Amino acid sequence: MRNPFFDRDIISIKDFSRSELEYLFSLSNRMDSLDREKRRNLGRGKILGLLFFEPSTRTRLSFEAAMLSIGGNVLGFAHPRMSSVEKGENLADTVKTVENYVDVMVLRHPMEGANRFAAEVASKPIINAGSGTEEHPTQAMLDLYTIMKVKGRIDGLNIAIVGDLKYGRTVYSLIYGLSNYRTRIFLVSPPQLRVREEALFNIGDKIKVSEHGDIREIIEDLDVIYATRIQRERFPDPHEYEKVKGSYVIDIDLLKSGKDDCIVMHPLPRVGEIKPEVDNTPRAKYFLQIYLGKVIRATLLASILNPNPYALF
Ligand code: CP
Repeated sequence: MRNPFFDRDIISIKDFSRSELEYLFSLSNRMDSLDREKRRNLGRGKILGLLFFEPSTRTRLSFEAAMLSIGGNVLGFAHPRMSSVEKGENLADTVKTVENYVDVMVLRHPMEGANRFAAEVASKPIINAGSGTEEHPTQAMLDLYTIMKVKGRIDGLNIAIVGDLKYGRTVYSLIYGLSNYRTRIFLVSPPQLRVREEALFNIGDKIKVSEHGDIREIIEDLDVIYATRIQRERFPDPHEYEKVKGSYVIDIDLLKSGKDDCIVMHPLPRVGEIKPEVDNTPRAKYFLQIYLGKVIRATLLASILNPNPYALF
């Protein structure tokens, strides 16, 4: 298959087909076992720009680690206060400045649509590292890859997405990504945090989706529990956050009532949605997600930067 990622923006997971995602997964398997020196040829002489207008630990550092692992270099800012944005510079001028110094840019921004806009004004590829409540496509790529690695398939699985389905951008990218597969999705949230209509509209009748208030109703059917943090910073009224915080807690007692091989995932950071007692059980896959995130992002960068990365492996 031709490399579908070469010189391409990564704005929405909706822009990628199942076969394109599977190209990425297959190349990631090879990346993971690739000799260190060969890996460093994939990005040699290339520079990644990081433009982070919102806080991040995993996404920013994993992109940085991924670029270094393929032999490239990284520059950028971790907070707009460390840039001329603080002096009033707009997004278009920021992007059109940084593109002179780099080969590809990773952008996290609090506004929906900011990444699509940046891609329109930029002459270098833009990777969306989170756009408001809208999407986080590379998180979904690593989430799907983790499910594939652990379960050996995505088709046929029952997957619950639990927590803040209204404001959690990873939720939207994951739903769109899963809609390429024959899955069943259970959406579990308090009524105030139900998924926005746009998600159900966008996937149409491609897969079966149902909404629930209590995970105990469906726990026996689940193969994957994908927990999410309630996004305090996106609530217009802090009192509304107080009403729903701590709504769902995944603990060993809950997991005992489900299938023995039901796994627990989370994009992280967590703030109490998964009890630490789950961490050392074989169910916990959120630390594996972190590791595979670096592999997926290294593969993605190598594929954006090289027309035929397979030839370099
Ligand atoms: N999963 C995720 O986006 O984490 P960070 O906010 O730490 O990047």
